[in-house]
Amino acid sequence: MTAHLSEETIFRGMTHPIRVEVLESVDSTNTEAKRRIASGLCEPLLLLAETQTAGRGRLGRSFCSPRGAGLYMSLVLHPNLPAREVLSITSAAAVAVCEAIEAHTPLRPRIKWVNDVYLSDKKVCGILTEGVTDPVSGLLRSVVVGIGINCTPAAFPEEVAAIATSLESEGNGKVTKVDRNALAATVCDHLLALYEELSSQTWLPLYRERAWLDGKAVVWRQNDALYEGTVLGIDEDGSLRIATENGEVVLSTGEVSIRPKERCRQ
Ligand code: BTN
Repeated sequence: MTAHLSEETIFRGMTHPIRVEVLESVDSTNTEAKRRIASGLCEPLLLLAETQTAGRGRLGRSFCSPRGAGLYMSLVLHPNLPAREVLSITSAAAVAVCEAIEAHTPLRPRIKWVNDVYLSDKKVCGILTEGVTDPVSGLLRSVVVGIGINCTPAAFPEEVAAIATSLESEGNGKVTKVDRNALAATVCDHLLALYEELSSQTWLPLYRERAWLDGKAVVWRQNDALYEGTVLGIDEDGSLRIATENGEVVLSTGEVSIRPKERCRQ
């Protein structure tokens, strides 16, 4: 296990001073963040946990969170803006995670649309963003950006181990120990900087230069049908542009997979 998470060390490592809270164990930092919002939290908060007993991923999946083996954190912000003006915060978060990994390790992560961070063709980080809408104004009152980074190799279930990696498993032994406090501070700091400039899309070129799917053959599912095409790139709003035999398709949300090799040969 890496050094224990420390509120003070993380706070001191950031140039954007926001409240930092570390929990020993929680069901999910995102769920806890939403409970805090429901009880009136109205200041920014970075909430971290050493372990999660019910960590959540996108599309109803669970997120494996062994004690001390990863960074499990949720950043809570209160934009009070129309949701469409804040949607790209998830893409900005993927960029912030890459920049933090680059700052603290010799590794070069890539982003698998829409917001997974990859190393050597395996997932090292997932991001789950959830919003709380004001019922009166219809504005996005608060947003919770949940980030899970695998830091040390852990006993993941077999199906997770096949597709996931950790920072310390990569880089041919060059990454021996990850400083989770420094990593958390840098992720949060970079995300807050990109958030301040969300309307000028500072994140977009940074995302595009790390886009992992460009040029790759992919498949995706929509309304129970399977589609395939070749990725052209990332649109102005973060959507995925795909060339198909019926013309260009733009996906604004969802998930695509790399086309299995057997299918490519057909
Ligand atoms: C995904 O891979 O689909 C997203 C995973 C997001 C995991 C993080 S860990 C911290 C925060 N709390 C959660 O329950 N989920 C997010």
